[in-house]
Amino acid sequence: MKLYLDTANLEEIRQAAQWGVLSGITTNPSLAAREDEDFTKILPSICELVDGPVSAEVISLEYEGMIKEARKLAAVHPNVVIKIPIIPEGMRAVKALSAEGIRVNVTLIFSVNQALLAARAGAAYVSPFVGRLDDIGNSGIELVRDIVDVINLHNLDIEVIAASIRHPEHVSAAALAGAHIATIPFKVLRQMFRHPLTDLGIESFLSDWKKSEANRK
Ligand code: E4P
Repeated sequence: MKLYLDTANLEEIRQAAQWGVLSGITTNPSLAAREDEDFTKILPSICELVDGPVSAEVISLEYEGMIKEARKLAAVHPNVVIKIPIIPEGMRAVKALSAEGIRVNVTLIFSVNQALLAARAGAAYVSPFVGRLDDIGNSGIELVRDIVDVINLHNLDIEVIAASIRHPEHVSAAALAGAHIATIPFKVLRQMFRHPLTDLGIESFLSDWKKSEANRK
């Protein structure tokens, strides 16, 4: 399973890119709105920092508007992937854009049927929202597993991005459920490194080393 960062913050992207674990970025209008700079200025910088797909979402809800926005965003960099919500007009746009060679990530997926519609329209990626489903008492990870099963069962050419990840346990569960990608907030990506036994191990290795150095003097 590949790891993407779910953010429009350049400092977070810069740091995570240095760790060597990043395969791509996803953004959404809420994440973009948190930044001081305009998203049209941020997007080219994101594409320079990360060598992988960068999802940028359209705001329009009708076909012509989506196509216009998508073409503009896709022209920024070959790695830009257009994010479109799972609505009928959106799937019409997915069909047209994928015929033009523009990859689409269909977002706000909360059911297997929605994922199936996205796959049939020709989307490259589908994003089930794990945390938001958990919030209403359903299992987001079960949905990821079901979508992966349907994709494999019917040989569909689409990748699953486990989105709306809230904690490290979501990441490992998404990997076990067969997600191709998890898109992770910066805080959660940092938490993934941590384990109390790793901290204790580093501490004892260093103190043993220092003791032996002192004894040799
Ligand atoms: C997906 O690509 C979205 O950007 C994101 O994962 C949504 O997460 P949230 O539910 O934490 O807003």
